[in-house]
Parts: sequence; C-alpha cells; structure tokens
Amino acid sequence: FPVENIRNFSIVAHVDHGKSTLADRLLELTGTIDKTKNNKQVLDKLQVERERGITVKAQTASLFHNCEGKQYLLNLIDTPGHVDFSYEVSRSLSACQGVLLVVDANEGIQAQTVANFFLAFEAQLSVIPVINKIDLKNADPERVENQIEKVFDIPSDECIKISAKLGTNVESVLQAVIERIPPPKVHRKNPLRALVFDSTFDQYRGVIANVALFDGVVSKGDKIVSAHTQKTYEVNEVGVLNPNEQPTHKLYAGQVGYLIAGMKNVTEAQIGDTLYLHKQPVEPLPGFKSAKPMVFAGMYPVDQSEYNNLKSAIEKLTLNDSSVTVHRDSSLALGAGWRLGFLGLLHMEVFNQRLELEYNASVILTTPTVPYKAVLSSSKLIKARRAVQKNMIFIDQNRVMLKYLFPLNEIVVDFYDSLKSLSSGYASFDYEDAGYQTAELVKMDILLNGNNVEELVTVVHKDKAHSIGKAICERLKDSLPRQLFEIAIQAAIGSKIIARETVKAYRKNVLAKCYGGDITRKMKLLKRQAEGKKKLRKIGNVEVPKDAFIKVLKTQ
Ligand code: GTP
Repeated sequence: FPVENIRNFSIVAHVDHGKSTLADRLLELTGTIDKTKNNKQVLDKLQVERERGITVKAQTASLFHNCEGKQYLLNLIDTPGHVDFSYEVSRSLSACQGVLLVVDANEGIQAQTVANFFLAFEAQLSVIPVINKIDLKNADPERVENQIEKVFDIPSDECIKISAKLGTNVESVLQAVIERIPPPKVHRKNPLRALVFDSTFDQYRGVIANVALFDGVVSKGDKIVSAHTQKTYEVNEVGVLNPNEQPTHKLYAGQVGYLIAGMKNVTEAQIGDTLYLHKQPVEPLPGFKSAKPMVFAGMYPVDQSEYNNLKSAIEKLTLNDSSVTVHRDSSLALGAGWRLGFLGLLHMEVFNQRLELEYNASVILTTPTVPYKAVLSSSKLIKARRAVQKNMIFIDQNRVMLKYLFPLNEIVVDFYDSLKSLSSGYASFDYEDAGYQTAELVKMDILLNGNNVEELVTVVHKDKAHSIGKAICERLKDSLPRQLFEIAIQAAIGSKIIARETVKAYRKNVLAKCYGGDITRKMKLLKRQAEGKKKLRKIGNVEVPKDAFIKVLKTQ
C-alpha cells in the first residue's frame, strides 16, 4: 500500500455521543462487516463493554475504501468516552494523524468534547467536527456549529452533519477523512521502528502487541529487539485488525496492526516501547506519559488459596490496561493482596468486573482512598482548602463552562452522580490533577476495648473525622458477634475519642434451637462453631471474624 493512500484516524467524543455507532456505519460502508447483520458496537469486544453499553478499551480496525479510482487503507481506532478512560484516548492518538470529533446535535459541546479536542490539538492532529444525531426531534445542529466555532475556532462550514443511527451522510465522513487528514509521515526504506501502543494477552499465543509502524517493514521470521528490555524475539505472526486479527505477510511503515513474537511474560510487552530489527538499532520513539492513578483500593482474594490465580489474572489484565498501578500489600484481616491505583471509580468497577467476567476471579475490594503527602510535624495543622473557582466561559446563551480547584477526595466518590442529579442530567464533568494542596488531615484509629485495630486505620479530613468515625463504628457494631463480655468500639484521633458504639455481652448458644437429645446434630453444630473460630482474629481479648473486616472495609 502506498503511504499516500493510508489514513490513521481516531473517533473521539463525549460519552454516548455516538462514536461506536459511527464506527459500525464506517465498517459497514467499507464492506469490512456485513450490512445485513445486526451490527451494534462491533468494536466493543469486551463482555463488560457490551453489558454496560460503554467503550472501555480502544480498538483498532483497518478499512479499505475506493475513492476516485484509488484504494485507500483507513486505520480506525475507536476510543472510550468516559473521563476515567482518557488515558486510552491519548495513547490511541499517538498512532493517528487526525480525529473525528463527534458532537451530539442535541446536547452540544460537553466536558469530554473539550478535553478530547485539546488532546488532539496538542498532538497537532487534523480535527474533523462531526455533528451526530441530526435525526433527533430536538436536534439543533446550527447551534452546535456555532458552539464549535466559538470554543474551538473551527469554521462552522467544516462541520459534517450526520445521523450515525440512520446512516445519513456518513459517506461525507469517509470523504473528509481522505481529503482532510494527511497520510502518516514515515520512511519505509529506513530500519524498522514500531511503537507498541496497546497489548493483550492470549492464553495460547502469548502477548499480542498492537503496533504502529513509523519506519521500515516487519515480516514473519524477522528477529526483533525491544528497546525497553533489550530482549530479542522472533516474529511468529504479523497482521491487520479487520476488526478481528487477520494475518498478513508483512506490515509496512504507516500501517497499524498486530505482532506476535513469543513474548510469554506479560511484563515483556511494555506499552510505549519501540521494537526494532536485530542489529539495526534505532532511536526509540517518545512513548507515553505514564498514567496517574487517582483512586486507590485494596484488593484481596476471597480465599487466600486463590492468591496465585488472582495474581496472574491481575498481571494479565494490567497488560491490557496499563493505567492500573499495582503494589503488593497485606492486611492482617484479609491476608496477602494488592493496593491498586485507578484513574477513577468507574475504572475501578470495570477492572473488577473484567476480573470476574474474563478471569472468573472473586475479590474483596476495600474502600478507595486518594493519595496524600504527609509532612510529619507536631502541629500539622494548616488552613484547609475548599473548592475555589478558577474561571468561567460562556459556550453560548445556555451553557457555561466553570473551572474549579477541588480537593480530589471530594470528587472521587459521589460528586459526579450528585452533579448529574442536581442538574437533571445536564451538567457534565471532567478533571485533571492540579497537584497537592495543604489540608488539615488527621490519622484516625479504631479501637476495640482500647486496642488499636491496625487494618482500620485511616487518614481523613479533620472536618469529616467525626462522621466517618461514627459510620465505621456503626458498621463494625453491626458485623461483630456478641461475646461473653461487653465490647467498646471507638474511633480516636490521638488520645481523643470521637465516636463510640457498644456491643453488649452475650454467649452465642448454638444449641438453643436443638430440642431433645439428637446428639449427632449437637456435635455438628459445636464443630461448626469451632471451625468458625479458626477464622477469627483476636484483637486484645475481642474475637473478630474475617467477615466483620470485609463488611467494614468493602466498597458498598
Ligand atoms: P461510549 O462508547 O460509551 O463512549 O459511547 P459512544 O459515544 O460510542 O456512543 P454509542 O455509539 O454507544 O451511542 C450512544 C447512544 O446513542 C446509543 O443508544 C445509540 O443508539 C445512540 N445514537 C448514536 N447515533 C445516533 C444517531 O445518529 N441518532 C440517534 N437518534 N441516536 C443515535
């Protein structure tokens, strides 16, 4: 394929504005998939994506299109829309020269439209605005055109108005991709330089790396080297994604495809790595900024005997989602586990669900926390910060964009849901890290009859300590079985008690329901009680079943 007939592009949009539907239409129009079949979100391959109706992973598809007697190869990279997955978007863009910026003709510009535009703009890509859903009764494409001109400085006549659902005007989108997006700037005569921009793990074939070729050619049988590990591999298979893997003899510079080279260990395929031919070293490509986790949670196997299986499942899944950070952790209550970092709460839920659906793993996830930097000093008490307004821009008469500086802890849990319900679904939200700010934080201990419960220590904002401490004490009270003596559950900051609950004394008589003299049944019940005790942990003289920790620590 001549380079000038190749276009690498991506579709970006706010969530639900219709990227995946447009991708389906483009696949149909180019004959990549059959029109007669019921095509819905063909690129959303993961089960979790189909169940939730959202795109989580960027996917790639190569389309062939004839235009004025020439055949073009159009490499389409579909990307997720939710705020938590913008890392996937910026990665995909590094393999592209242009984007289709899809905007809903009714909703207009939203938070992620703005964020995605700037990602593309900073990467110096051509931006083609596509106004979708013009078939909707309330569609107002002219208003959206004006918004696009005002906010992004793109002339309104460059907007393409379509209905991805009905297929209206979708051909003009293909036409614009060919006319307005430049071919990749590559050199096929130079030695191979391939960027690994994504990778997945296949049980039988090992690591499958998605690559964008910036220079040279790669064929089956070539010896390649990873710039990151300096290890050498033999290429077993190369091919294009159509959208399923389709082996080819070679991949040329300018193409996007996949490569399998006997990488058996998931850590060998670093995303952002450069692959080159053995004995033909090249300057590695810039790679990617590593993602910054925003929400942390502890993850533990339900049963410790499952530790190794869960470990390997997490390793394989993080290969497919490198924005998750993993550190080993352990808790006296829950055993050996990990502390994982996610980009947001939805990201965390999706990761957990993928572990269950794709790896059949069942896990305990503990309440997420956000990172704090602590300066240990005797006072540590510096003025607290609340949300501070930074600026305000009117997008049009009906829409305003507000910028605030927020403590991360205030937005990670339920801020987005509250914002949506307060604004009846009209407001949208995006965030980026603004660095650490000083705050009045305190370390809160939980005590059982005066003894500290190590696994329940938390760092909280001073103003929230009372309500959080009270909630933990209440949850612990509900999940602790009564014992022969009274148990005082207390939340404390230093030596100051800020909340207290009491579990009254009681002896659990497991034989209470056994009337008469069925001795074998009595024995069974006593045995079961004894087995239950093995799973207990003693804090001072208080016995705490593992379940109680799980109930207190688990996310709702
Ligand atoms: P994410 O992958 O989650 O980011 O969403 P998306 O942007 O890919 O949106 P998707 O294609 O899943 O479409 C969202 C919803 O809008 C679906 O219910 C589509 O059927 C609907 N939709 C997409 N295009 C059109 C259109 O042109 N007209 C109408 N009426 N509905 C559309």
